[in-house]
Amino acid sequence: MHTLHVNLGDRSYPIYIGAGLLEQPELFAQHIGGRQVAIVTNETIAPLYLDKLKAALQRFEVACVVLPDGEAFKNWETLQKIFDGLLEARHDRGTTVVALGGGVVGDMAGFAAACYQRGVAFVQVPTTLLSQVDSSVGGKTGINHPLGKNMVGAFYQPKAVVIDTATLATLPPRELSAGLAEVIKYGLICDEPFLGWLEEHLEALRGLDQQALSEVIERSCAAKARVVGADERESGLRAILNLGHTFGHAIEAHQGYGAWLHGEAVAAGTVMAMEMSRRLGWITAQERDRGIRLLQRAGLPVAPPQDMTPEDFLQHMAVDKKVQAGRLRLVLLRKMGDAVVTADFPREILEATLATDYRALVEQL
Ligand code: NAD
Ligand code: GLY
Repeated sequence: MHTLHVNLGDRSYPIYIGAGLLEQPELFAQHIGGRQVAIVTNETIAPLYLDKLKAALQRFEVACVVLPDGEAFKNWETLQKIFDGLLEARHDRGTTVVALGGGVVGDMAGFAAACYQRGVAFVQVPTTLLSQVDSSVGGKTGINHPLGKNMVGAFYQPKAVVIDTATLATLPPRELSAGLAEVIKYGLICDEPFLGWLEEHLEALRGLDQQALSEVIERSCAAKARVVGADERESGLRAILNLGHTFGHAIEAHQGYGAWLHGEAVAAGTVMAMEMSRRLGWITAQERDRGIRLLQRAGLPVAPPQDMTPEDFLQHMAVDKKVQAGRLRLVLLRKMGDAVVTADFPREILEATLATDYRALVEQL
């Protein structure tokens, strides 16, 4: 088992990474203060891992809330089911919410923990690659609004993140690829040598090689912990973690939540951010193409949906959380391994980026 730390003063917490951690009761007990625990999961994950987690938590009074599965359910109605479960089981302020699942379950359970009786403890047990390398770390919690992705939520840190890499064995390959989009993101924004490592290990990762997975999760979590430790509430640096996300969130909202996986939308959005960086003269066409090839080899889409117009993008991007005083800010690459958040770009370059024929661009690779 490897242990990393997110350093946030009295809200610091460990990230445990290893195979079989769901079967280690002591790991959980260290981070649970009261006698009650509420496991929040969904109907896909429950038959796979709920009994195992319940066994690890058997010394506690455990209630389970099983949510419907999918991004389309990341909303108020589903959130309410968590509060219903907590109240029906008469959980008090000493309870601990344990999120067992991917980013959707983690974001919703974390938000419920932030709100229930004005805040109770929570622990993240992420089971998708995406949630293990990104969403379970850093305390962003929330739900979607029909007008915008993750628009309602709270910063609320977990007490611990327990990453059992063995859970990836049951993850569908499309979901594994979606997680790789966020992994490639770390290389592009802050760790250029990591891109070379990924180029060498992509097949091993897609083949679920435990050693490669463990290394990729550790390296990704270390990058995320560094950024979050420096800027927990996204007053500056943390926004770089959103490379490709402004374009990607527009794709998710336009297509209808769940039609494109979050990681897929981020991948296509990352290609758009790289193309815009190239148009600004910050990276070369060869560097952009290196990024595109890596995303392609990870099994990800590298062009936005064909039916999305530049106007569709602009409309959705106008409600991005990075908009400040009406000005759209984007995460772009100053060079490979170095991202910047900026509103300082000519409007024509953004328009040209949105009007680019990405299918033609990819075909000539
Ligand atoms: P997800 O939670 O929808 O999980 C993907 C699918 O895999 C679901 O059908 C789920 O039931 C299933 N699944 C989960 N674990 C499994 C396993 N071990 N075996 C088999 N099936 C399994 O999607 P995700 O990609 O994990 O997360 C995406 C969400 O995370 C989005 O809502 C996104 O906004 C959010 N997100 C949040 C942050 C953050 O910082 N909080 C960062 C990135 C993404
Ligand atoms: N996934 C973006 C962030 O955590 O800030």
